[in-house]
Amino acid sequence: MTSSENKAAARQSEGGVTKPIRKVVIPAAGLGTRFLPATKAQPKEMLPLVDTPTIQYVVGEASAAGLDDVLIITGRGKRSIEDHFDRSFELEHSLELAGKTEELELVRSISEMVNVHYVRQGDPKGLGHAVLSARQHIGDESFVVMLGDDVMDPKAEVTKNMLAIHAQTGYSVVALKEVSPEEISSYGCARVETDDDGLVRIMEIVEKPKREEAPSNLAVMGRYVFTPTLFDTLAETPPGRGGEIQLTDGIAALMSKEPVYGYVFTWGRYDIGNKLDYLRATVEIALSREDLGPPFREFLVDLLQTDLDSQHV
Ligand code: UTP
Repeated sequence: MTSSENKAAARQSEGGVTKPIRKVVIPAAGLGTRFLPATKAQPKEMLPLVDTPTIQYVVGEASAAGLDDVLIITGRGKRSIEDHFDRSFELEHSLELAGKTEELELVRSISEMVNVHYVRQGDPKGLGHAVLSARQHIGDESFVVMLGDDVMDPKAEVTKNMLAIHAQTGYSVVALKEVSPEEISSYGCARVETDDDGLVRIMEIVEKPKREEAPSNLAVMGRYVFTPTLFDTLAETPPGRGGEIQLTDGIAALMSKEPVYGYVFTWGRYDIGNKLDYLRATVEIALSREDLGPPFREFLVDLLQTDLDSQHV
């Protein structure tokens, strides 16, 4: 066993089980260039899906998975994220005076969801660099990373299932989803092997490979569970693709020290930084809402019918 494998085994043997994870890091310091001009003066993580900012869905998913200590990595132009999770005394007072109790409870519940802390990344030097800036807050514990622009359908329970694999193995777990060969060059890509217990072990991982060089069609999605050993490997990871410190390169280095597992899921993920996925998320979430679903469905059916009719004239 290597020393970091020993450490992981020790973590696992504490009381016979791994210590429950409570901390989650949400990187939200990126520039959001794929969503310009909307992201020129506002963070993409604050883009609303119907009436709720993207990052609130992510924090809600963390809270549902039992993660109550949230560290958001922010940067320049991201103040509105901090304001959103803070108390808003003026607004609360006005709502109280106007007798708008439902709205008041809604506003209050946001600041009471979880404990939120912030670290600024300074220069957005890549996702690996963003995660490394969480080191002091996390300390020597395993933790979760959830990308601030990736929304998961709560029914898919992706983070919860990943935490179960970590509790079983004591090691890191990376969310993976099959994508088409045309799409693989936009993602980290992993080659895996499944062991006798049905656990998926990552054997190779590369950042944004060319289609013809991709070792598989399994793409890395924005959910991770990490042992603290990741910080040691990230600290030694040189800038990679695009001159940025890539989280994928840090994971590849971690794999040379200890096992890293995969959790393969098939549905329920939206990349809000991608315009088409943003539209898909908006429509699907609106359709699933009790208050908006029925009239919105009617509107969509009419719209499609009118569109079809116009093509046949
Ligand atoms: P993306 O690569 O999707 O974000 O990173 P980006 O760089 O903002 O997007 P584009 O490509 O320019 O449109 C995934 C998540 O990681 C964060 C982003 O804010 C996003 O939530 N991130 C990325 C950081 O926190 N720091 C970075 O240096 C890079």
